[in-house]
Amino acid sequence: MNTESFAAIAGLVKARSGIVLTPDKGYMLETRLAPLLKQESIPSLDALATRLRDPRVESLARAVTEALTTNESSFFRDGKPFDHLRRLLPRLRAARPATHRLRIWSAACSTGQEAYSVAIILRELGIQNAEIHGSDLSREVVERAREGSFTQFEVQRGLPVQMLVKHFRQEGSRWRVSPELRAMTRFEERNLLADHRSLGRFDIIFCRNVLIYFDPPTKGRVMNALAAQLAPDGVLYLGGAETVLGLTDRLVPVAGERGAYALAGAAGAAS
Ligand SMILES: C[S@@+](CC[C@H](N)C(=O)[O-])C[C@H]1O[C@@H](n2cnc3c(N)ncnc32)[C@H](O)[C@@H]1O
Repeated sequence: MNTESFAAIAGLVKARSGIVLTPDKGYMLETRLAPLLKQESIPSLDALATRLRDPRVESLARAVTEALTTNESSFFRDGKPFDHLRRLLPRLRAARPATHRLRIWSAACSTGQEAYSVAIILRELGIQNAEIHGSDLSREVVERAREGSFTQFEVQRGLPVQMLVKHFRQEGSRWRVSPELRAMTRFEERNLLADHRSLGRFDIIFCRNVLIYFDPPTKGRVMNALAAQLAPDGVLYLGGAETVLGLTDRLVPVAGERGAYALAGAAGAAS
Protein backbone atom coordinates (compact mmCIF):
# COMPACT_ATOMS: atom_id res chain seq x y z
CA MET A 1 0.00 0.00 0.00
CA ASN A 2 1.42 3.39 -0.90
CA THR A 3 1.49 6.31 1.55
CA GLU A 4 -1.32 8.18 -0.24
CA SER A 5 -3.60 5.14 0.06
CA PHE A 6 -2.78 4.78 3.76
CA ALA A 7 -3.48 8.49 4.32
CA ALA A 8 -6.79 8.25 2.43
CA ILE A 9 -8.03 5.26 4.45
CA ALA A 10 -6.77 6.68 7.76
CA GLY A 11 -8.41 10.05 6.95
CA LEU A 12 -11.73 8.40 6.22
CA VAL A 13 -11.65 6.34 9.43
CA LYS A 14 -10.70 9.39 11.52
CA ALA A 15 -13.50 11.51 10.02
CA ARG A 16 -16.10 8.79 10.53
CA SER A 17 -15.09 7.50 13.98
CA GLY A 18 -12.38 9.64 15.57
CA ILE A 19 -10.01 6.65 15.52
CA VAL A 20 -6.44 7.72 14.71
CA LEU A 21 -4.41 5.27 12.65
CA THR A 22 -0.71 6.10 12.75
CA PRO A 23 1.54 5.02 9.84
CA ASP A 24 2.91 2.09 11.89
CA LYS A 25 -0.59 0.53 11.68
CA GLY A 26 -0.12 -0.49 8.04
CA TYR A 27 0.03 -4.19 9.03
CA MET A 28 -3.24 -3.80 10.92
CA LEU A 29 -5.00 -2.38 7.88
CA GLU A 30 -3.77 -5.32 5.84
CA THR A 31 -4.96 -8.01 8.28
CA ARG A 32 -8.23 -6.35 9.29
CA LEU A 33 -9.26 -5.37 5.77
CA ALA A 34 -8.23 -8.60 4.02
CA PRO A 35 -11.66 -10.30 4.49
CA LEU A 36 -13.45 -7.20 3.16
CA LEU A 37 -11.19 -7.01 0.09
CA LYS A 38 -11.93 -10.67 -0.60
CA GLN A 39 -15.67 -10.26 -0.11
CA GLU A 40 -15.82 -7.20 -2.39
CA SER A 41 -13.33 -8.62 -4.92
CA ILE A 42 -11.08 -5.59 -4.50
CA PRO A 43 -7.53 -6.57 -5.47
CA SER A 44 -5.51 -4.39 -3.07
CA LEU A 45 -5.61 -1.68 -0.42
CA ASP A 46 -4.53 0.83 -3.08
CA ALA A 47 -7.57 -0.17 -5.16
CA LEU A 48 -9.74 0.13 -2.04
CA ALA A 49 -8.42 3.66 -1.37
CA THR A 50 -9.26 4.63 -4.97
CA ARG A 51 -12.75 3.15 -4.60
CA LEU A 52 -13.32 5.09 -1.35
CA ARG A 53 -12.70 8.41 -3.11
CA ASP A 54 -16.20 8.06 -4.57
CA PRO A 55 -18.55 9.57 -1.95
CA ARG A 56 -21.35 7.23 -3.08
CA VAL A 57 -19.68 4.15 -1.58
CA GLU A 58 -21.25 4.72 1.84
CA SER A 59 -21.64 1.05 2.77
CA LEU A 60 -18.02 0.30 1.85
CA ALA A 61 -16.78 3.29 3.89
CA ARG A 62 -18.84 2.05 6.84
CA ALA A 63 -17.51 -1.50 6.49
CA VAL A 64 -13.90 -0.25 6.37
CA THR A 65 -14.44 1.86 9.50
CA GLU A 66 -16.13 -0.97 11.40
CA ALA A 67 -13.37 -3.40 10.43
CA LEU A 68 -10.82 -1.05 12.00
CA THR A 69 -12.55 -0.77 15.39
CA THR A 70 -11.19 -2.88 18.24
CA ASN A 71 -14.06 -4.62 19.99
CA GLU A 72 -12.29 -6.27 22.91
CA SER A 73 -14.51 -6.43 26.03
CA SER A 74 -15.22 -8.61 29.04
CA PHE A 75 -17.63 -8.89 31.97
CA PHE A 76 -16.77 -6.70 34.98
CA ARG A 77 -13.71 -5.46 33.08
CA ASP A 78 -11.10 -3.91 35.37
CA GLY A 79 -13.22 -4.65 38.48
CA LYS A 80 -12.81 -1.37 40.35
CA PRO A 81 -15.43 0.75 38.55
CA PHE A 82 -18.00 -1.95 39.25
CA ASP A 83 -17.06 -2.03 42.95
CA HIS A 84 -17.57 1.73 43.01
CA LEU A 85 -20.86 1.38 41.14
CA ARG A 86 -22.11 -1.15 43.72
CA ARG A 87 -21.58 1.44 46.45
CA LEU A 88 -22.87 4.36 44.38
CA LEU A 89 -26.13 2.94 43.03
CA PRO A 90 -28.05 2.61 46.33
CA ARG A 91 -27.07 6.21 47.15
CA LEU A 92 -28.23 7.53 43.76
CA ARG A 93 -31.45 5.50 44.01
CA ALA A 94 -32.19 6.87 47.49
CA ALA A 95 -31.56 10.44 46.30
CA ARG A 96 -34.27 10.19 43.63
CA PRO A 97 -38.01 9.68 43.82
CA ALA A 98 -39.13 6.06 43.19
CA THR A 99 -40.79 7.29 39.99
CA HIS A 100 -37.42 8.40 38.59
CA ARG A 101 -36.03 5.83 36.20
CA LEU A 102 -32.30 5.44 36.82
CA ARG A 103 -30.54 5.71 33.48
CA ILE A 104 -27.14 4.23 32.75
CA TRP A 105 -25.36 4.62 29.42
CA SER A 106 -22.74 2.16 28.25
CA ALA A 107 -21.24 4.23 25.43
CA ALA A 108 -19.03 2.26 23.02
CA CYS A 109 -20.44 -0.90 24.59
CA SER A 110 -19.01 -3.32 22.03
CA THR A 111 -20.69 -6.75 22.40
CA GLY A 112 -22.54 -5.77 25.58
CA GLN A 113 -20.55 -7.30 28.44
CA GLU A 114 -20.31 -3.93 30.23
CA ALA A 115 -24.05 -3.24 29.94
CA TYR A 116 -24.95 -6.73 31.20
CA SER A 117 -22.45 -6.44 34.07
CA VAL A 118 -24.31 -3.30 35.17
CA ALA A 119 -27.66 -5.09 34.75
CA ILE A 120 -26.43 -7.92 37.01
CA ILE A 121 -25.41 -5.42 39.71
CA LEU A 122 -28.80 -3.69 39.54
CA ARG A 123 -30.57 -7.06 39.91
CA GLU A 124 -28.34 -8.15 42.76
CA LEU A 125 -28.92 -4.88 44.59
CA GLY A 126 -32.68 -5.23 43.99
CA ILE A 127 -32.81 -1.80 42.36
CA GLN A 128 -35.98 -1.37 40.36
CA ASN A 129 -36.94 1.18 37.76
CA ALA A 130 -33.64 1.36 35.95
CA GLU A 131 -32.59 1.08 32.33
CA ILE A 132 -29.29 0.55 30.60
CA HIS A 133 -28.68 2.07 27.23
CA GLY A 134 -25.84 0.49 25.26
CA SER A 135 -24.48 2.09 22.10
CA ASP A 136 -21.64 1.51 19.67
CA LEU A 137 -20.54 2.68 16.24
CA SER A 138 -20.34 -0.84 14.90
CA ARG A 139 -23.57 -2.40 13.65
CA GLU A 140 -22.18 -5.90 14.03
CA VAL A 141 -21.33 -5.57 17.72
CA VAL A 142 -24.63 -3.83 18.49
CA GLU A 143 -26.47 -6.79 16.98
CA ARG A 144 -24.38 -9.16 19.07
CA ALA A 145 -25.03 -7.13 22.22
CA ARG A 146 -28.77 -7.23 21.54
CA GLU A 147 -28.63 -11.00 21.10
CA GLY A 148 -26.99 -11.34 24.52
CA SER A 149 -25.49 -14.67 23.53
CA PHE A 150 -21.91 -15.37 24.57
CA THR A 151 -19.38 -18.14 24.04
CA GLN A 152 -17.94 -20.21 26.88
CA PHE A 153 -14.67 -18.26 26.47
CA GLU A 154 -16.48 -14.92 26.78
CA VAL A 155 -18.40 -15.86 29.94
CA GLN A 156 -15.24 -17.27 31.50
CA ARG A 157 -13.62 -13.84 31.24
CA GLY A 158 -14.66 -11.96 34.36
CA LEU A 159 -18.03 -13.52 35.13
CA PRO A 160 -18.14 -15.41 38.46
CA VAL A 161 -19.70 -18.84 37.99
CA GLN A 162 -22.55 -18.19 40.45
CA MET A 163 -23.56 -15.14 38.39
CA LEU A 164 -23.33 -17.19 35.21
CA VAL A 165 -25.74 -19.86 36.43
CA LYS A 166 -28.09 -17.29 37.96
CA HIS A 167 -28.34 -14.80 35.10
CA PHE A 168 -27.64 -16.87 31.97
CA ARG A 169 -29.16 -19.91 30.29
CA GLN A 170 -27.11 -22.45 28.43
CA GLU A 171 -28.04 -22.83 24.76
CA GLY A 172 -25.88 -25.52 23.19
CA SER A 173 -22.29 -24.32 23.52
CA ARG A 174 -23.35 -20.70 24.21
CA TRP A 175 -24.81 -18.79 27.14
CA ARG A 176 -27.72 -16.36 26.74
CA VAL A 177 -28.54 -13.59 29.22
CA SER A 178 -31.79 -14.05 31.12
CA PRO A 179 -34.96 -12.31 29.87
CA GLU A 180 -34.84 -10.17 33.04
CA LEU A 181 -31.43 -8.75 32.12
CA ARG A 182 -32.44 -8.26 28.50
CA ALA A 183 -35.56 -6.36 29.57
CA MET A 184 -33.36 -3.84 31.40
CA THR A 185 -31.13 -3.15 28.40
CA ARG A 186 -31.45 -1.72 24.95
CA PHE A 187 -28.82 -1.20 22.33
CA GLU A 188 -28.44 1.19 19.42
CA GLU A 189 -25.92 2.15 16.80
CA ARG A 190 -24.49 5.50 17.81
CA ASN A 191 -21.35 7.37 16.97
CA LEU A 192 -19.65 9.05 19.94
CA LEU A 193 -18.93 12.01 17.64
CA ALA A 194 -22.68 12.59 17.13
CA ASP A 195 -24.97 15.03 18.95
CA HIS A 196 -26.29 13.16 22.01
CA ARG A 197 -28.75 15.73 23.32
CA SER A 198 -31.80 13.77 22.16
CA LEU A 199 -30.77 10.92 24.52
CA GLY A 200 -31.55 12.99 27.62
CA ARG A 201 -29.86 12.80 31.03
CA PHE A 202 -28.03 9.80 32.43
CA ASP A 203 -27.28 9.12 36.09
CA ILE A 204 -24.19 7.12 35.15
CA ILE A 205 -22.15 6.93 31.97
CA PHE A 206 -19.55 4.32 31.09
CA CYS A 207 -17.24 5.25 28.22
CA ARG A 208 -14.24 3.01 28.60
CA ASN A 209 -11.39 1.89 26.43
CA VAL A 210 -12.41 3.86 23.36
CA LEU A 211 -11.06 7.38 23.89
CA ILE A 212 -7.53 5.91 23.79
CA TYR A 213 -8.00 5.60 20.02
CA PHE A 214 -8.81 9.33 19.57
CA ASP A 215 -6.57 12.40 19.39
CA PRO A 216 -6.66 14.92 22.30
CA PRO A 217 -9.09 17.43 20.68
CA THR A 218 -11.54 14.60 19.88
CA LYS A 219 -11.20 13.16 23.40
CA GLY A 220 -11.97 16.58 24.87
CA ARG A 221 -14.93 17.11 22.57
CA VAL A 222 -16.43 13.70 23.42
CA MET A 223 -15.88 14.19 27.16
CA ASN A 224 -17.65 17.56 27.04
CA ALA A 225 -20.54 16.00 25.13
CA LEU A 226 -20.80 13.19 27.72
CA ALA A 227 -20.58 15.68 30.59
CA ALA A 228 -23.54 17.53 29.07
CA GLN A 229 -25.64 14.34 29.36
CA LEU A 230 -24.63 13.56 32.96
CA ALA A 231 -26.89 14.25 35.97
CA PRO A 232 -25.39 16.83 38.38
CA ASP A 233 -24.52 14.10 40.92
CA GLY A 234 -23.76 11.46 38.28
CA VAL A 235 -20.52 9.62 37.57
CA LEU A 236 -18.65 9.01 34.33
CA TYR A 237 -16.40 5.96 34.20
CA LEU A 238 -13.41 5.98 31.84
CA GLY A 239 -10.93 3.20 31.11
CA GLY A 240 -7.80 2.69 33.20
CA ALA A 241 -5.57 4.31 30.53
CA GLU A 242 -7.89 7.31 30.07
CA THR A 243 -8.12 10.58 31.96
CA VAL A 244 -9.88 13.93 31.77
CA LEU A 245 -6.75 15.81 32.84
CA GLY A 246 -5.72 18.42 30.29
CA LEU A 247 -8.68 17.53 28.05
CA THR A 248 -11.74 19.06 29.71
CA ASP A 249 -12.41 21.17 32.79
CA ARG A 250 -16.03 20.01 33.04
CA LEU A 251 -15.08 16.76 34.79
CA VAL A 252 -12.92 16.03 37.82
CA PRO A 253 -11.63 12.73 39.25
CA VAL A 254 -13.66 11.26 42.11
CA ALA A 255 -11.17 11.24 45.01
CA GLY A 256 -9.60 7.84 45.57
CA GLU A 257 -11.59 6.13 42.78
CA ARG A 258 -9.53 5.32 39.71
CA GLY A 259 -11.51 5.74 36.50
CA ALA A 260 -14.48 7.58 38.11
CA TYR A 261 -15.21 11.24 37.25
CA ALA A 262 -17.82 13.70 38.45
CA LEU A 263 -18.96 17.05 37.10
CA ALA A 264 -16.68 19.88 38.21
CA GLY A 265 -18.31 21.82 41.01
CA ALA A 266 -20.88 19.09 41.74
CA ALA A 267 -21.73 18.83 45.43
CA GLY A 268 -20.99 15.46 47.03
CA ALA A 269 -19.28 13.87 44.02
CA ALA A 270 -19.77 10.21 44.86
CA SER A 271 -16.69 8.68 46.47
C1 LIG B 1 -12.22 -1.76 23.07
S1 LIG B 1 -13.95 -1.65 22.86
C2 LIG B 1 -14.46 -1.18 24.49
C3 LIG B 1 -15.74 -1.87 24.93
C4 LIG B 1 -16.16 -1.58 26.35
N1 LIG B 1 -16.42 -0.18 26.55
C5 LIG B 1 -15.11 -2.07 27.33
O1 LIG B 1 -14.40 -1.26 27.92
O2 LIG B 1 -14.99 -3.28 27.49
C6 LIG B 1 -14.09 -0.11 21.94
C7 LIG B 1 -15.42 0.05 21.24
O3 LIG B 1 -15.53 1.41 20.81
C8 LIG B 1 -16.26 1.42 19.61
N2 LIG B 1 -16.04 2.70 18.93
C9 LIG B 1 -14.93 3.15 18.32
N3 LIG B 1 -15.13 4.38 17.84
C10 LIG B 1 -16.39 4.73 18.15
C11 LIG B 1 -17.18 5.88 17.93
N4 LIG B 1 -16.73 6.95 17.28
N5 LIG B 1 -18.45 5.89 18.41
C12 LIG B 1 -18.95 4.82 19.09
N6 LIG B 1 -18.25 3.71 19.32
C13 LIG B 1 -16.98 3.66 18.86
C14 LIG B 1 -15.76 0.21 18.85
O4 LIG B 1 -16.68 -0.21 17.87
C15 LIG B 1 -15.57 -0.80 19.98
O5 LIG B 1 -16.67 -1.65 20.10
